[in-house]
Amino acid sequence: MTTTRPSGRQFPADFLWGSATASYQIEGAVDVDGRGPSIWDTFSRTPGKVLDGDTGDVAADHYHRVPQDVAMMGDLGLQAYRFSIAWPRIQPTGSGEFNQAGLDFYSDLVDRLIAQGIDPYVTLYHWDLPQPLEDAGGWANRETALRFAEYARKVAEVLGDRVTMWTTLNEPWCSSFLGYASGVHAPGVTDDEKALRAVHHLNLAHGLAARAIKDVLGEDTPVSITLNLHVTRAASEDPADVEAKRRIDTIANEVFIGPILDGEYPKEVFADTAEITDWGFVLDGDLDLIKVPLAVLGVNYYSTGKVKHGTPPKGDGTPGPDGHRSSPNSPWVGASQVEWLPLPGPHTAMGWNIEPEGLVELLVELHERYPGLPLAITENGAAFYDTVSEDGRVHDAERVAYLHDHIDAVGEARDKGVDVRAYFVWSLMDNFEWAYGFDRRFGIVRVDYDTLERTVKDSGHWYAELIRTGTVPTPESAATL
Ligand code: FCB
Repeated sequence: MTTTRPSGRQFPADFLWGSATASYQIEGAVDVDGRGPSIWDTFSRTPGKVLDGDTGDVAADHYHRVPQDVAMMGDLGLQAYRFSIAWPRIQPTGSGEFNQAGLDFYSDLVDRLIAQGIDPYVTLYHWDLPQPLEDAGGWANRETALRFAEYARKVAEVLGDRVTMWTTLNEPWCSSFLGYASGVHAPGVTDDEKALRAVHHLNLAHGLAARAIKDVLGEDTPVSITLNLHVTRAASEDPADVEAKRRIDTIANEVFIGPILDGEYPKEVFADTAEITDWGFVLDGDLDLIKVPLAVLGVNYYSTGKVKHGTPPKGDGTPGPDGHRSSPNSPWVGASQVEWLPLPGPHTAMGWNIEPEGLVELLVELHERYPGLPLAITENGAAFYDTVSEDGRVHDAERVAYLHDHIDAVGEARDKGVDVRAYFVWSLMDNFEWAYGFDRRFGIVRVDYDTLERTVKDSGHWYAELIRTGTVPTPESAATL
């Protein structure tokens, strides 16, 4: 891939540069020091669920390598690190007793980050639900939201004001619809009604946890949520295609943005899903609880989508044109007459099209709609099939080009007046990429899964140079930095 945008854009000194990971994807040590099982342990050990039968049992073994990994972050010059806390490490069964060893692990991580001058951005839930909570109904069960708030309260008490930003949930769309509708993610349930319950209970969990954190640490404590807002376009101006896009926008984006930022569900969703549920699980007062002032909205962005009216083919487990692993039961609940179209390349190893303009569009739209709400790119990055060259380096020119163009796109959005304050590259290091196991590498640092050795890729050196200078370096410079 070549770049489509110029180099040299300057960012202000107060723009925050970081990178992101998630607990199950990097930690390993799944049965160490009292950690309980999560839905991803169960799912990944179920034959056929994850490519090549990979599990997070060892992953990048980060649990045992924190000092070295944090030192590496320091060498890269990261200003912030977005990581998630494994709920089952803190509370092995998801309720009751807390596990001191788990709390100590994250407390030590936070201290080390601060000692390196790196701001800790904590995500409380990046998909590793304690298995006993799933056994009791998981996110389809309202109780899970209440348990989540208790867990959040405990973490807030222990980590306290050492945390720069508290993010409640990562991508509740994935938790709801990949977890409970298409079932390509844990817990692997395929039940549309449960998926919609999960939507509401995740929204409720966000609100309750945000309130618990503020209750412990004060009203001004910065809380956020990270959403994977889908940028979808209609294939034509035909009203049927425009309606197809509207359906996707509703079930992908508005069901989260609506309650979280506006305090109400989009009324269209009730009609779109009327055959599945009457949404009786939304109780009086819930919407007031869900809407909490956010310090920032986290935006994860990778690619765009295109839809038209039509009858989609049944999914067969291969990567679908919507960017997700396909399944006989579609994740697009309430949108059964919507067909996703393949998009022209270039594509990443995920099959995702590369379109930085989609990021500008998304940021501008969000800013116009919520002018007072600061934004952060909490994930952006690309998987490619990297190789180690004879010189021992990973010359991941395609990833460099991807980051180059998307970071320039962030700058363009800023020029257009969007208040975007931070950028976190996904990911700090290669890791367990959910249903695709270790096959898809997103890191700016390579992990050798035999030796667990870390090697900073060209993209990592390039990103470090960007952070050092505040200026987007040329992609060509990456190989020699
Ligand atoms: C996002 C997830 C993250 C990672 C990237 C590629 O949906 O939040 O964990 O898997 O996709």
